[in-house]
Amino acid sequence: MNEQSSREDPTLKETPLNCGYVANVSTLTPKARLVRSLPIDFAQIDREGYQLVRGFGIDTAWFETELCRVSGGKLFFSDRLGSFVHEFRVLPHSDNLSEQASCGGFHTDFMFQPRPPEFVALLCLRPDPKHPVYGRNQVVHRDAFLERMHSIYGITQEDFLTQKIEYTFPGRAPISLSLLRSFDDRLILSFHTSLMPKGKVAAFGDIPIRNMIEAVCSEVAQDVILDRGDLLIVSNHVALHRRSECTFAFNAEDRSFMSREMATIRFDR
Ligand SMILES: [Fe+2]
Repeated sequence: MNEQSSREDPTLKETPLNCGYVANVSTLTPKARLVRSLPIDFAQIDREGYQLVRGFGIDTAWFETELCRVSGGKLFFSDRLGSFVHEFRVLPHSDNLSEQASCGGFHTDFMFQPRPPEFVALLCLRPDPKHPVYGRNQVVHRDAFLERMHSIYGITQEDFLTQKIEYTFPGRAPISLSLLRSFDDRLILSFHTSLMPKGKVAAFGDIPIRNMIEAVCSEVAQDVILDRGDLLIVSNHVALHRRSECTFAFNAEDRSFMSREMATIRFDR
């Protein structure tokens, strides 16, 4: 990862700060009273790639407080949003990947940063109108992914560590990044299939690498269905994640669309 790449990261710029900062959070849905502390299990997250906490509740201030506690204050602050918590919903017309109704690509959050956040917490504030079929989350563990890429396509861990993918963005210099990186004796997948080139990449043979990755991910992904108040904590270092297709419900009274709403916080341990 070169310095130019990190400065021109086209994803959000997030900085870990002490969470003594008072966040300015606007909430999309009414808050419930806090109900319980967060029983986080880092060993399980490392082993499975994620942890699901049912019924945590939709109080985003409590969400921030509990994650501040379990992370020892290592929350990632968004300069763009001016807060630790990012609340978002699926919109009928949006360029933002997290707000689009179509199925997202498997990815690592903030993959272009020198050190992506270790965890992503996703709190469901409102499920998809056609819950539980739509709007589910999917998690792919690094080890299952690497095993299947090798056994099906013959692509080795070394290939992933050494061969780079070039990401291009309008008006920016291209960014080259290997699919697998080594941090602190840990191997971290770093890519976003939606941003990858669609064609062949010579180093990976005759089938587009994006297609191979999507095929393998669809096989080994764990599907997680979040109801209102459920919390999913995903490892951003040992797993990839994505969100499936979403739907809208039109409210004729105020001529608005109802859709899936989420709150997210990235954090380290
Ligand atoms: Fe994400």
